[in-house]
Amino acid sequence: MPAILASAPGKVILFGEHAVVYGRPAIAVPVTQVQVKASIMADPLGPPGRVHIQAPDIQLERDLAELPLDDPIALAVQGVMHALVIGHLPALKLRISSTIPVAAGLGSGAAVSVAILRALSAFLGHPLPDEIVSALAFEVEKKHHATPSGIDNTVVTYARPIFFTRGQPFEILPPAETITLIIADSGIKSPTHLAVAAVKEAWQADPHHFDALFDDIGQVSQQARQLITEGPVRELGPLMTENHHILQQVGVSSAELDFLVDAALQAGAAGAKLSGGGRGGNMIALATLENAEKISTALTDAGATRVIISRVNPITRDQK
Ligand code: MEV
Repeated sequence: MPAILASAPGKVILFGEHAVVYGRPAIAVPVTQVQVKASIMADPLGPPGRVHIQAPDIQLERDLAELPLDDPIALAVQGVMHALVIGHLPALKLRISSTIPVAAGLGSGAAVSVAILRALSAFLGHPLPDEIVSALAFEVEKKHHATPSGIDNTVVTYARPIFFTRGQPFEILPPAETITLIIADSGIKSPTHLAVAAVKEAWQADPHHFDALFDDIGQVSQQARQLITEGPVRELGPLMTENHHILQQVGVSSAELDFLVDAALQAGAAGAKLSGGGRGGNMIALATLENAEKISTALTDAGATRVIISRVNPITRDQK
């Protein structure tokens, strides 16, 4: 039997990170330049039930049975078995490769889960629909992030721009015009769950203040939604910068992220902000076709360890 391959993209949060955990709306878009690939094939030499995992990007080569029970890879495999009501697996080789940096706010955790869920369910002859894939990836996220909003698994599964409010059906946002984003890595690893936990502590100490900040972010997301679908997209820029300033007050920016945001604005970006959990990881800047290279160079010069130019294109009718 040939290997079955599945992939999942990275993502950035355009608006609303952290506030989305507290019920305010947020907007996320896929980043297809980076992705996780999972491939599954039968292992004719292995004993039944043995799943051998190779994930060279995280220096992992082990049998599934040797992984801790709460390992995200193990949880994703169990999620498929549970969903398909399968008690035992044949001998398998599972290979995972990724170009999405970890702990960088680009959705690597969700993408690993989604790619495994898709590849394994397809290999077993029952490819899971997106709705189940997203729900199972959310279960994996919950084991690791205490209180994930569900935005990462949703955008990574559907690979479309989304308007997302926790606990509500999400909406696909067809952009009126191409959105050109520069995504720059501060090089500082910052696991999302730690940033989310720090915000929770601060919110518990002063709920009134933080709820007001989350309300402001929610309003920014609402305004952005209309600009994305109706244009002009350039006007998203000031909203991004405003969102960044509120996130500074939430306490999740850092000197490095602020420096990159300033560098992007000075190079002509219409707006810029941190993206994802913050305290490190990536920032994004809104560019145009014309100034994308200039902003990208400015961010590299300002110390970004990796810069990606990503375009979110209008959705054609048959993609809707
Ligand atoms: C992570 O991509 C976005 C956060 O809002 C966490 C979450 O929504 O689960 C920081």
